[in-house]
Amino acid sequence: MRKTIIAGNWKMNKNPIEAVEFVESIKNQIDTDRYDVVLCVPAINLIPVLDCVKNTNIKIGAQNVFFEDEGAYTGEISAKMLKESGVEYVIIGHSERRQLFCETDDMVNKKVIKAIEYGITPIICVGESLQQRENNVTIEFIRMQIKNALANVNENDTSKIVIAYEPIWAIGTGKTATTNQAQEVCHEIRNVLAQIYNQNIADNIQIQYGGSVNSKNASELFNMPDINGGLVGGASLKNDFVSIVNYK
Ligand code: 13P
Repeated sequence: MRKTIIAGNWKMNKNPIEAVEFVESIKNQIDTDRYDVVLCVPAINLIPVLDCVKNTNIKIGAQNVFFEDEGAYTGEISAKMLKESGVEYVIIGHSERRQLFCETDDMVNKKVIKAIEYGITPIICVGESLQQRENNVTIEFIRMQIKNALANVNENDTSKIVIAYEPIWAIGTGKTATTNQAQEVCHEIRNVLAQIYNQNIADNIQIQYGGSVNSKNASELFNMPDINGGLVGGASLKNDFVSIVNYK
């Protein structure tokens, strides 16, 4: 049965010295027995942080990946490079990348396929804008994002994916979706996964909620039936992350 997965998305924060200092300060307080715990750190911090967690069960994730193996792609990092460095997860299709770096559903799909090819678990982000929510097209839009992200992803590979539902209006705004709003969309995500694959597969895929998660709201959100943990931004940069991971 699916396990809860709590991942921190540091976004573009902390230099390598700060990164190691922070991870050293929290790593022994984090309970990794009950849940999967992942830190998605800036590319420049991957190697030092991997070294820092090597005697723990904390997993390390990247925040982006390119869909070619190697070549003339200035500034990019391949799934092959990540895998060979010990990275086990990668965030794909975060709304910030879709909005600020013009990532399309097609690019997201290529990245998902490439990550799976190299045995890296993609954390696939989907989420609606405030305008879409107000226009009542949230479910329709999310269903489309899920279908496009998973095009040509074989059912045998579905055990290697995580979905993160992150409503754009809740990211970095302090405006968390209510537990019912988050549950409703995560449930619909599971329905669409059942349609694409089958109910058994859908029931085994980890679905996270992200958007202003903190130590006060984590427990209520993560205890909803279709929410299997969170993708945490701002609060993952502080000690708050320990309380979020150790939620009851
Ligand atoms: P915040 O937790 O800062 O709202 O960010 C959420 C997020 O974007 C995680 O990927």
